[in-house]
Amino acid sequence: MTHVPKTFTDSFGRIIRDLRISLTDRCNFRCLYCLPETEEAANFFRTRRSETATPIPYVWKPRVNLLTYEEIERVTRIAVAHGVEKIRLTGGEPLLRRDVPALVARLAAIDGLKDLALTTNGFHFVEQAEALRKAGLRRVTISLDSLERDNFTKLTGRDALDTVLKAIRLARDLGFHPLRVNAVIIRHLNDHEIESLAEFARAENIALRYIEFMPLDSRRAWQMEHVVPAREILARLQARHALEPVVADSKSATATRWRFADGRGEVGFIAPVSEPFCGHCNRLRLTADGKIRTCLFSLHEHDLKAQLRDGANAADDETVAAWLRGVILHKEARHHIGEEGFQQPDRPMSAIGG
Ligand code: GTP
Ligand code: 5AD
Ligand code: SF4
Repeated sequence: MTHVPKTFTDSFGRIIRDLRISLTDRCNFRCLYCLPETEEAANFFRTRRSETATPIPYVWKPRVNLLTYEEIERVTRIAVAHGVEKIRLTGGEPLLRRDVPALVARLAAIDGLKDLALTTNGFHFVEQAEALRKAGLRRVTISLDSLERDNFTKLTGRDALDTVLKAIRLARDLGFHPLRVNAVIIRHLNDHEIESLAEFARAENIALRYIEFMPLDSRRAWQMEHVVPAREILARLQARHALEPVVADSKSATATRWRFADGRGEVGFIAPVSEPFCGHCNRLRLTADGKIRTCLFSLHEHDLKAQLRDGANAADDETVAAWLRGVILHKEARHHIGEEGFQQPDRPMSAIGG
């Protein structure tokens, strides 16, 4: 008899299949849309009338507050036993955490886990790529917002375009598949690179995903006028290329996908602002400091670390599962970006996980 797992289901009937685990809130990049720090970043935001917004005073979490690899493995086992199929390791920058391949090996060994992926800015990928692959990682997503050295530096705060391009090519050559590259598009910053990013996807035969800018930046400078709607990007690409829709793997997928008619390369659109996909959301997030977030935009968090660690009262697996079941019942219906009264969470994306 096959074992049918009891699933974690929210109050809208959405079954949780995807757990995104942040390994650290630290990052070595300072992306404008996440943790801006450069002079260019300040100037960009000043010209967009956001000087009245209160920045999120961001301080790295002390290391003792981070979940250990044992704890992460335990949570993953419990989640998988309750129907979670996908794990994505995120950050900050996850490869700043020590010995990520050791964690990957533990997670890859969990029976029932179908998909294990990592999101990285690519800076430290080259040194670790082979160890990650050997440990059982099959899939990586690398961020690349610009192909122009100066613009890349402006967007990420680091002069690292060549390093990230090497990471992408190595990931492809080592057989990480499907290889996805994420570009957050921001009006007047990198929207002139939309076509060249598509050419890059074709030249390298990879999937390039255009992401709409969301209000998760530490300066709280997001404005609707910064967002380039996916439809606009698609129209620009269709003016140059014959594109064919690709059927999504699941109806909970974040991206709508298109392939080039000649078969080389793919583009995808992640449009949480102009075409929200919350109705089919199957995601749950675990922050590096052990908080469960039921939505990227949650205003309340749930302290899983306290369940795992609280000395003599530490919960057993069944109790943790029951606790998670209760938390998931509070998963929000959707986000409220762009609506009156929208409140940005107190954590920037770097402290939530992409
Ligand atoms: P795969 O397609 O399976 O590789 O994963 P994915 O679609 O979750 O993609 P990825 O992890 O690369 O996430 C891409 C981006 O989509 C993130 O960095 C976020 O910007 C956005 N995103 C992911 N999940 C959510 C979500 O639940 N809500 C919203 N609004 N945006 C999300
Ligand atoms: N809006 C949209 N996507 C974001 N990311 C980070 N901050 C934002 C934001 N404000 C995504 C980027 C990055 C991943 C880690 O998180 O895609 O590649
Ligand atoms: Fe950029 Fe990701 Fe770091 Fe944020 S967490 S600053 S998006 S690389």
